[in-house]
Amino acid sequence: MDWGMKNRLSQIIKPDTGRTVMLAVDHGYFLGPTHKLEHVGTTVEPLLPYADALMLTRGILRSSIRPEISVPIVLRVSGGSSIIGADLSNETITTSMEDAVRLNVSAVALSIFIGTDFEHQTLGNLAFLIDMAQEYGIPVLAVTAVGKEIGKKDSRFLALACRIAAELGASFVKTYYCDEFEKIIESCPIPVVIAGGPKLDTDLDAFNLAYDAVQKGATGVDMGRNIWQSEFPVAKIKAVRAIVHDKVPPKQALEIFEENKKKKHSKI
Ligand code: 5RP
Repeated sequence: MDWGMKNRLSQIIKPDTGRTVMLAVDHGYFLGPTHKLEHVGTTVEPLLPYADALMLTRGILRSSIRPEISVPIVLRVSGGSSIIGADLSNETITTSMEDAVRLNVSAVALSIFIGTDFEHQTLGNLAFLIDMAQEYGIPVLAVTAVGKEIGKKDSRFLALACRIAAELGASFVKTYYCDEFEKIIESCPIPVVIAGGPKLDTDLDAFNLAYDAVQKGATGVDMGRNIWQSEFPVAKIKAVRAIVHDKVPPKQALEIFEENKKKKHSKI
């Protein structure tokens, strides 16, 4: 791997633990206004000290995030469909590599929709993006999108999607936690991070999810709603960090969460 590629990846996946806590705020690219992301800058600002990377689109980066921040950017560069459109999986590449370089990003991210009518198109998007990104030494994060079928996809499906992303040359892959998650890890030669999915019923549920994923080999999380839709997002991300980087079990993470809830500015 070239120096620039390695350097960018190591900004995201921290070399001291080999893990990452990415904060995902790219939801508006197909959902439009999303609860608690109405003003992304305000939501994100207090969470930045605890995020190893920030995943978002160029429009929100330019309009809502201070350019002085030191958190590495993972730029969402796929899109072109919406939650009310005919087919969520009909995506294209929405941002040029030159613009990604202008924005000084550490990685670019694109969704693939395996098993849909747009499987071929989105895998073509991924292969094309990897060729372009390779020119500049920029890592590519492939997102194994499941559209509206979240929860219905099992380890067989997600392992297939992750493996194909790796075969096409992605640097790392984002998927969902599921039963027999270890099967995904066993057959995927690149780092795997997990999305949090819709906000879970309890804080402990979210901590269990993060803990089980890293225990079974995930490199970390790329979590959104379960952090910033929490009433105490700073406390939440601190607890998730403790799980991912310090390997604390879920009950101890809950104690860290409860302790941090009491601190000033823990609410946004
Ligand atoms: C959508 C995405 C989101 O970034 C991803 O779903 C992470 O956010 P959450 O933890 O809220 O699911 O990639 O395709």
